[in-house]
Amino acid sequence: MSPSAVTAMAALLLTGGAGFIGSHTLLVLLQAGHELVVLDNFANSSPIALDRVLELASPDAAGRLHRVEGDVRSAADLDRAFTAPAKPIAGVVHFAGLKAVRESVEQPLLYWDVNLGGTRALAEAMGRHHCDLVVFSSTATVYGEPQEFPLTEAMPTPPVHPYAQTKLAAEQMLASLVRSEGWRVASLRYFNPVGAHPSGRIGEDPSGIPNNLFPYITQVAAGRLEHLRVFGEDYPTRDGSGERDYIHVMDLAEAHVATLDHLMQQPGPTQITLNLGTGEARSVLEVVHAFEQATDIAIPYEVLPRRAGDVPKLEASPESAAKLLGWRASRSLEQMCRDGWAWQQANPNGYR
Ligand code: NAD
Ligand code: UD1
Repeated sequence: MSPSAVTAMAALLLTGGAGFIGSHTLLVLLQAGHELVVLDNFANSSPIALDRVLELASPDAAGRLHRVEGDVRSAADLDRAFTAPAKPIAGVVHFAGLKAVRESVEQPLLYWDVNLGGTRALAEAMGRHHCDLVVFSSTATVYGEPQEFPLTEAMPTPPVHPYAQTKLAAEQMLASLVRSEGWRVASLRYFNPVGAHPSGRIGEDPSGIPNNLFPYITQVAAGRLEHLRVFGEDYPTRDGSGERDYIHVMDLAEAHVATLDHLMQQPGPTQITLNLGTGEARSVLEVVHAFEQATDIAIPYEVLPRRAGDVPKLEASPESAAKLLGWRASRSLEQMCRDGWAWQQANPNGYR
């Protein structure tokens, strides 16, 4: 049976589907014709994101989206999500989680509770509802402070902070269910997701002053922040500033669809771990210049010392995903800048 035939008889569950990556993936899945449930407690998102997704999707999409406000750690909330559609849930994409490195150092138990405890509660609910397929949101920070590039999935994973530790532990917990229960599991290690849907209607909505480079730059461009602080120019990189593998969130969304299609076609136990990046690291200064070129807006910056906890460089080998899924990121850094800027301009206060 083709994946689309399987999912025509079933629905998919997105935990954290109102968040940055979840909302973009939700849109692509609705546009592909799927019936979906979103379980989100809106701890770091807004229900308005779901309204905007429906606005962008086809007119019949509203009838194919079930919204459940609830916590992924709650068995009762999970049961409501699994029984929201009349059809069974054939697969889950598990985005719900916390992602701020510094907060994870300050509040480790919260991170173990939500990221590992939430994944465990989800796995138990999947067992109750006879669902054996899950795509898990993991992260490139599981590689710690790597020395060799590009990073392949077989390289060592010595996570250095609670956020990365909880993500690696959740990967391992799900892998053990492939062995014991014959599940089909994909752990996707995202590099640095940025940009927004080209419509400017959905995007990343950080609360307060952003920690991450891209939202910080767009707020400087908008005049909300005076100048960018470049953390470190003494790294052993091309120009001394930190290098990351930035990937357009729409490329990432499409990778989830390709992963679901691939898992649906597997007849038995399957465990895959894939890096999702472009394969091309860019420095902070390169990003600044690309943004200036794409938007014609100057980004003033000052150079500060390195930020604690930052690694010099992260760069994916995207080859496993290309081989297994036939998927590669296709959107340029310029597009990431243009689309991120369009979102910021149209929504100076995010969804608020
Ligand atoms: P996000 O915060 O925008 O989305 C996470 C969503 O999960 C939010 O809508 C939030 O309200 C929801 N959520 C949080 N705790 C919940 C709970 N207990 N119950 C139900 N819902 C809950 O983050 P994102 O950038 O979209 O990231 C999605 C996933 O990808 C996360 O698991 C994150 O750790 C992972 N990830 C993100 C990045 C990144 O740079 N954005 C990189 C690597 C991995
Ligand atoms: C950070 C997290 C990572 C998380 C990701 C998305 C850390 C150590 N890592 O990744 O786990 O998955 O965010 O939430 O917190 N930079 C500046 N000025 C700024 C902001 C950033 O120079 O104002 C630099 C950083 O030093 C880094 C690069 O820009 O070299 C990217 O930073 P950022 O966007 O915060 O992402 P990461 O640190 O890679």
